[in-house]
Amino acid sequence: MSFKDELQTLKTSFEGDLGSVADSDQLEALRVKYLGRKSGLQDVMRLLKDMSVDERKAAGQEANEAKRSMEIAVEAKDLELERVRLEGLATEEAVDITLPGIAPPVGHLHMTTTAIREIEAIFARLGFTRVRHPEVEWEWYAFETLRVGPDHPARDNWETFFIDAPTDDKKGKMVLTPHTTNGDVREMERGDLPIRMMNINKTYRRQSDVSHVPMFHQFEGLLIDEGVTVTDLKGLFDHFAKEYFGPEREIRLRPHHFRFTEPSFEVDISCGLCQGIGCRMCKDGWVELGGAGMLHPDVLRAGGVDPEKYSGLAFGWGLERTVSMRAGLNISDLRTMYSGDVRFLQQF
Ligand code: DAH
Repeated sequence: MSFKDELQTLKTSFEGDLGSVADSDQLEALRVKYLGRKSGLQDVMRLLKDMSVDERKAAGQEANEAKRSMEIAVEAKDLELERVRLEGLATEEAVDITLPGIAPPVGHLHMTTTAIREIEAIFARLGFTRVRHPEVEWEWYAFETLRVGPDHPARDNWETFFIDAPTDDKKGKMVLTPHTTNGDVREMERGDLPIRMMNINKTYRRQSDVSHVPMFHQFEGLLIDEGVTVTDLKGLFDHFAKEYFGPEREIRLRPHHFRFTEPSFEVDISCGLCQGIGCRMCKDGWVELGGAGMLHPDVLRAGGVDPEKYSGLAFGWGLERTVSMRAGLNISDLRTMYSGDVRFLQQF
């Protein structure tokens, strides 16, 4: 093949290859193939050395022009590839700053935590200090010192969770405390009188149905001072009812029996739906809040407090129950509160 033909074949082949180049790596490979040191062009140039001086001059010029035009074509292709890349980016990475933002999910406290804080605050204003006594407790504090004897049904395995731990000669077995009243004697033992205690804690019982969960909360108030009477108890509850449930709510005491108080009461609050008239929800206009009473002298003595000098009132109410009563919530299954289902919890 003549020099001219060789050069022409090279250029045609170059143009064909250039047409199918799709990215800068392929373009670089093409440049090396046609313009590099071991390229097709160099092969053609080698033919020059067998030519006469005049021939060589003309052919050399042609070869240089071919080289130059291929270089220009490569540069042009490079710019073209870059332009296409940037155009692609403009659509792929476009940000429309006028679009509404994606709001991050905002969490909030669990309804139980909110209630604990509210109840704590109401009693704090009356001088009650929030404390926490053990959840894993001796029978001594959970039952014995509260006059709940060994034969009482509450101490049965079916009511209380017993811990598999060594028994203490005096304090008995360990249990998961079934009520916050376990804190009463413990608080007295600190020996700091008078006492205004608000013990809010987790409590445990072997129960699980629509209105019971095995882990629940109680808040226990304890007031011990000289001359504390049932009047104080009633005034305290009346204040709490109005603060927590609303100014129109009333309180009623019903005689009851607890081992650790004498006299003992069930505390009712006027129904929020019918304002005490009587409706389908409450029947007679009242709903039950929880137990209360004046501490039995033996309980005071168990805590090292002289019942001749001091008297005390105590009350212990279920927190979940109190929360659902305020909201007028008819939670069909109390277990939902602790199922961890955000769809339920988001409502409160
Ligand atoms: N501890 C009792 C219970 O869990 C409730 C209770 C009743 C607490 C009377 C008291 C009280 O402090 O005086 O059922």
